Amino acid sequence: TQPLRLGIAGLGTVGIGVVKIIRRQAALLEARTGRTVTISAVSARDSSKDRGVSLTDYAWETDPVALAKRDDVDVFVELMGGHEGAAKEATEAALATGKDVVTANKALLAIHGQALAEQAEAAGRVIRFEAAVAGGIPVIKSLTEGLAGNDITRVMGVMNGTCNYILTQMEATGQGYNALFEECGRLGYLEANPNLDVGGIDAGHKLAILSSIAFGTKPAFNNVHLEGIQRITLEDIRAAADMGYRIKLLGVAQRTGRGLEQRMTPCLVPAQSPLGQLEGGTNMVVIEGDAVEQVVLRGPGAGEGPTASAVLGDICDLARGLRIATFGQAATTLQEAPAAQTALP
Ligand code: NAP
Ligand code: HSE
Repeated sequence: TQPLRLGIAGLGTVGIGVVKIIRRQAALLEARTGRTVTISAVSARDSSKDRGVSLTDYAWETDPVALAKRDDVDVFVELMGGHEGAAKEATEAALATGKDVVTANKALLAIHGQALAEQAEAAGRVIRFEAAVAGGIPVIKSLTEGLAGNDITRVMGVMNGTCNYILTQMEATGQGYNALFEECGRLGYLEANPNLDVGGIDAGHKLAILSSIAFGTKPAFNNVHLEGIQRITLEDIRAAADMGYRIKLLGVAQRTGRGLEQRMTPCLVPAQSPLGQLEGGTNMVVIEGDAVEQVVLRGPGAGEGPTASAVLGDICDLARGLRIATFGQAATTLQEAPAAQTALP
């Protein structure tokens, strides 16, 4: 069998994590998939940066679009980030030149996912994006494979580790939001644009992707009712605790009488519930279906190893020949209901 040849654009936290796993686990990946997984070429902005791992075995491309078009690349792995510019252009170029795509880019998919999926379908290619939602938790695979026999009624969860860290540290240490926001900056937790985290936008991107898979709709980020955690005070935290609740930035997508409701807002959750017991940077996704009733998935939502783990899951599927499209032509559009402030059970 031919090797599966990758082109990896983006050699930051996630990209280097992927390179390390491919180098460390070459034999395991081959045993699992029946194919050798190789890297033909890589791309990042700064070719002189020491990234802690040898890249001399791989061709270097300064331009990710050129990388995406290379003849020795079967799968384009997009790990640069951003919903415009290089990530979008290179993904489109990869599909146009007959490559499958694996990405961790939730912003790109939440905003352009439908158009990219249609381009992929027209070209007979697939885009896989397990790492885009809840990092290391295999939530997309759970919905598309393990829970495929269910009519999904609701998906909800905590999908931004930074916000959960800030909220749980406010409880644990009594420090205010501003001090913890600054600590997150020092610890390197924040996105380059921190408003993506604390404004609920990053988590909203993830919810839009997740609900499109769960309900067979087109990803509709603009219909997510968004509210961040910037205005949560220590008094809010204490008042919630007095009543037996904790405050979580919670995403909920569910069918209503008027269509699909998607909201990402700070919510009160019972302190003893699975969501209420979630600490620090951990993520949790709760999926409810007519047959399974409720499944709770919990795990690391970010970081080098967990996110690269999810990227490798997609790469292994492609190596095995599992080329399942996740959204695209099959998507219908449920009428969007205006987001409502309904109480959680
Ligand atoms: P990162 O550490 O900032 O790395 C980004 C990489 O992309 C860098 O190597 C950068 O090059 C390269 N890059 C950026 N713009 C480029 C351009 N125009 N041309 C060529 N290379 C370019 O980001 P990350 O944390 O690894 O995240 C990558 C993706 O994974 C994003 O979509 C992010 O949302 C997603 N994600 C991340 C996590 C996480 O925990 N970090 C979790 C889930 C999903 P230089 O190094 O030379 O600057
Ligand atoms: N900034 C994101 C978070 C990274 O804190 O969850 C993972 O998507």
